[in-house]
Amino acid sequence: MTILVTGARGAVARRLIRGLVDAGQKVRAAGRVPQAVQAPEGVEVVQADLSRPETLGSAFDGVAKVFLYAEPQGLDGVLAQAKQAGVEHVVLLSAAGADSASADAITSMHGRAEDAVAASGIGWTFLRPGGFATNRLLWAATIRERGVVLDPFPESQSALIHEADIADAAHHVLTEPGHLGARYTLTGPESITLRRQVDILARALGRPITVELQSLDDYREALRPLGPPDIVEARIRRLAALVGTPAPVTPTVEALTTHPARSFATWATDHIPDFS
Ligand SMILES: NC(=O)c1ccc[n+]([C@@H]2O[C@H](COP(=O)([O-])OP(=O)(O)OC[C@H]3O[C@@H](n4cnc5c(N)ncnc54)[C@H](OP(=O)(O)O)[C@@H]3O)[C@@H](O)[C@H]2O)c1
Repeated sequence: MTILVTGARGAVARRLIRGLVDAGQKVRAAGRVPQAVQAPEGVEVVQADLSRPETLGSAFDGVAKVFLYAEPQGLDGVLAQAKQAGVEHVVLLSAAGADSASADAITSMHGRAEDAVAASGIGWTFLRPGGFATNRLLWAATIRERGVVLDPFPESQSALIHEADIADAAHHVLTEPGHLGARYTLTGPESITLRRQVDILARALGRPITVELQSLDDYREALRPLGPPDIVEARIRRLAALVGTPAPVTPTVEALTTHPARSFATWATDHIPDFS
């Protein structure tokens, strides 16, 4: 039985592939640019642009389970091919609060992806993480250059999740029975302010980092590479809404993986080279 992992260059997919291979699973890695995928030895790498189902070729051949990035464009075509190939279980990397009827561009996009998967007739599990700790890699350039983090909402709270915890949760639901039809909201272990995250990162790096207030226009500009304007605006509204308000924390990572969710301090230590 082969497990197909899409988005093979992504932070979650990379960890997931490594963990599955170490556990003796047969894995195929799929990415838009296969030459850019650094997969462990023995892992077959295939091309797959989820927004263009015609690129999938024989990616689903012999595949029973799929870890799928939520790319609504082209998803129906991808799922039709998966169904035809006999795929039994799709584990979708969705997002907390996913809801196709939501006015928020991020939750509605993931909700549309969930609806398509649920309508496909293939068994499914939805992983719904909150904010990723990897979002903080956006700080790397100014920390490296000037020891500064620029942000308009230093008191905004988040319970950022380590990519390894999402990968571990995915590993568990892909390889253990009992998760069909489940929606799991995944978060980090505690809600902390952005200012506190900066302090934790400074301690891990062993050098001071100051927080400078950034204008909303500059922030918008900085977020531009991360997605279309409606997604950027949704992100900004969320951060503003969490000023002085704790972000929800769930016990789901530990319930699924049997280890506690990794702290932001652990993430910072794991990512020292990215900021150095
Ligand atoms: N960042 C957050 O806080 C957050 C929170 C909740 C949910 N999410 C969701 O989690 C997912 C990953 O988020 P991220 O920002 O952390 O991304 P990331 O690690 O930078 O990875 C992005 C991945 O998406 C894959 N991808 C994108 N478009 C694709 C396409 N058309 N076909 C195939 N693969 C495609 C890329 O695959 P290749 O380049 O290898 O082809 C890459 O692996 C996104 O769906 C995001 O909406 C993110």
